[in-house]
Amino acid sequence: MADLETLKTKYAGEIAAADNLGGLDAVRVAALGKKGEVSLQMRTLGQMSADEKKVMGPALNSLKNELAALVEARKTVLEGAALNAALASETLDMSLPVRADTGTLHPVMQVMEEMAVIFADQGFAVAEGPDIEDDFHNFTALNFPPGHPARDMHDTFFLKPDADGNKMVLRTHTSPVQIRTMMSQKPPIRIIIPGRTYRCDSDQTHTPMFHQVEGLVIDKTTHMGHLKGCLMDFMSAFFETDVETRFRPHHFPFTEPSAEMDVRYERVGDEIRIGQGDKWMEILGCGMVHPNVLKNCGLDPDEYQGFAFGMGVDRLAMLKYGMPDLRDMFAGDGRWLEHYGFSPLLQANLATGLS
Ligand code: DAH
Repeated sequence: MADLETLKTKYAGEIAAADNLGGLDAVRVAALGKKGEVSLQMRTLGQMSADEKKVMGPALNSLKNELAALVEARKTVLEGAALNAALASETLDMSLPVRADTGTLHPVMQVMEEMAVIFADQGFAVAEGPDIEDDFHNFTALNFPPGHPARDMHDTFFLKPDADGNKMVLRTHTSPVQIRTMMSQKPPIRIIIPGRTYRCDSDQTHTPMFHQVEGLVIDKTTHMGHLKGCLMDFMSAFFETDVETRFRPHHFPFTEPSAEMDVRYERVGDEIRIGQGDKWMEILGCGMVHPNVLKNCGLDPDEYQGFAFGMGVDRLAMLKYGMPDLRDMFAGDGRWLEHYGFSPLLQANLATGLS
């Protein structure tokens, strides 16, 4: 039987002398590990007489606890020292200039940021939904009944049907997120929905994947005047100049009444100038949310009302930053991105300017 005092002195000394966490753990294993010296001593208890056990049992236990406490205390000290050493050696010089010569923010992302900033200022939150949608959210709940001709206008990409014959779609617009939001949140609702959308279409002004920003406001009193004010203010803020707008009656299944909004523009040589001139350009669709859509989402149209709008982000980016062909946007040409891209470090904000 080893002298417990000797054991204690030996290991207490080794613990105190350990100068790194690995070394400390080796001492712990040598003393308290399964085959450690203290553990082996505890195994000899079985062969002792009852009287011996009465003395040695508690003595060994307290030795074990004392050594364990010493290990823990030393561990705390060593961990603190390791952290301080890391803090001292891994300093970052915040005054160094940033290397801003690699990578730019795509103009579409920049424009989405700008839109989010303007609408945030009007009290809108951002909502998102899946790119792969079911028929209910993309069409039926938005008051496109099955077989309705308006469905065909969307040039939908369908996925392979599942075992029951149901076909998921690549969402043709961001409007399904209106449905998801109204079914999961209680009004008042005031959201914009930026995101990717897909239609089987490709020419100078259409790409199979494009971007929209949708808006939705639902409460008890919002009316068409609010819709107009919201969008007129948005256009002037976005184009950073006074923009004259007009609203033309239109048809969308999910709004009633529905309208399209145009902005005044003129063409000077190759350049398009927004805000002035004698021409009108269609910019977005909007309207008051159709009572059927509210009902489909479990809202009572006698109690709730509101407006919605949807606009093409890529088109607005082209207009604001003067890009001639929509398809270039997604060609992944480094030179184009370098020319039209934005610094990812400059955050759009209303105080110091959007771009
Ligand atoms: N979802 C429509 C489209 O992609 C755009 C739109 C029009 C959205 C009117 C709306 C709206 O929310 O009220 O063509």
